[in-house]
Amino acid sequence: MNDVFILAIESSCDETSVAIVKNGKDVIAMKTNTQISTHEKYGGVVPEVASRMHCENIVIVLNETLEEANMTMANIDAIAVTYGPGLLGSLLVGVNFAKTLSIVYKKPLIAVNHLIGHIYANNIEDKLQFPLITLIVSGGHTQLFYMKRDYTFKLLGETLDDAIGECYDKVAKVLGEKYPGGPNVERLAKEGQEDYNFSVPMNDDTYNFSYSGLKSNVLNFINTRKMRNEEIDKASVAYSFQKTAVKEVCNKVEKALKEHEALQLVVAGGVSANNYLREELQKICDVYKVKLAIPSLKYCTDNAAMIGAAAYPKYLNKEFANIDLDAESGLNIC
Ligand code: KG4
Ligand code: ZN
Repeated sequence: MNDVFILAIESSCDETSVAIVKNGKDVIAMKTNTQISTHEKYGGVVPEVASRMHCENIVIVLNETLEEANMTMANIDAIAVTYGPGLLGSLLVGVNFAKTLSIVYKKPLIAVNHLIGHIYANNIEDKLQFPLITLIVSGGHTQLFYMKRDYTFKLLGETLDDAIGECYDKVAKVLGEKYPGGPNVERLAKEGQEDYNFSVPMNDDTYNFSYSGLKSNVLNFINTRKMRNEEIDKASVAYSFQKTAVKEVCNKVEKALKEHEALQLVVAGGVSANNYLREELQKICDVYKVKLAIPSLKYCTDNAAMIGAAAYPKYLNKEFANIDLDAESGLNIC
């Protein structure tokens, strides 16, 4: 079979990213424009600003990617795009741009779920081996799936309220750290000495998670200490919070590995960049003799290469989208 070159577009949040991916695996070129320094001033992503910046940058990022690959649109076999979940205005920019390219250059269009993209990021440097358990930990999602085969998803459990990344970001804010807070909380936690023993939220027999209670516990702890004019060791708050937040994830992952046959634990989403989480998950995988698969940092955070990787099985199955494809901000995996 001839090589398949997919041009992939990702614009679901605050990164405008375009990649050319060969056979769902080899990243020929990728360019990403990140808006973090703009949103940082506001303490979070401002949706209107994000979509305007996607509009301004998307053509530039496409041209830079083609240039890096030394390719033209004539070399491309299909256009893949993230159509959800994410910020509606941001998604619409990518979807409409991809539809336009598809019409103008007469290429098939492939609609990709952003979260499935995070899972398939693992096919770039490694290979998904089924059956597997996959954990999605991002700013908007905390979910656990069992996958028997390519593109079959059984939801085991998910957060009942906040996502783990959202919780990291909120704790970062009360500790006076910049957006995005996750990496800053992780950095602070490394210097923490004392364990304040926050309780693990969903200490039960389900696969579900909860993070809003933990966030309130941290807030109450800080406020109580402030009222008593007691010193707060920020690093120890970060350390104690992280220990509990990660324990919540690990308890459920361990239950999933105990109750399912799996070759891999695949971790996806922005929070998978966290080293403490990686170390704790590795310990569990060692016990259950399961391979831990986590992409390297540049494929963990939002990027278009993962969208190209997730589009490839759809290309092989000729699962193409119609030109009336619309963005779906609340899109689910199943
Ligand atoms: O997947 P992602 O890039 O965007 C979506 O939510 O789709 O994930 C972003 C989230 C943010 O909440 C960010 O704070 C968190 O991932 N994050 C981290 C780390 N790096 C990013 N959380 C904890 N530790 C990190 N090192
Ligand atoms: Zn993401």
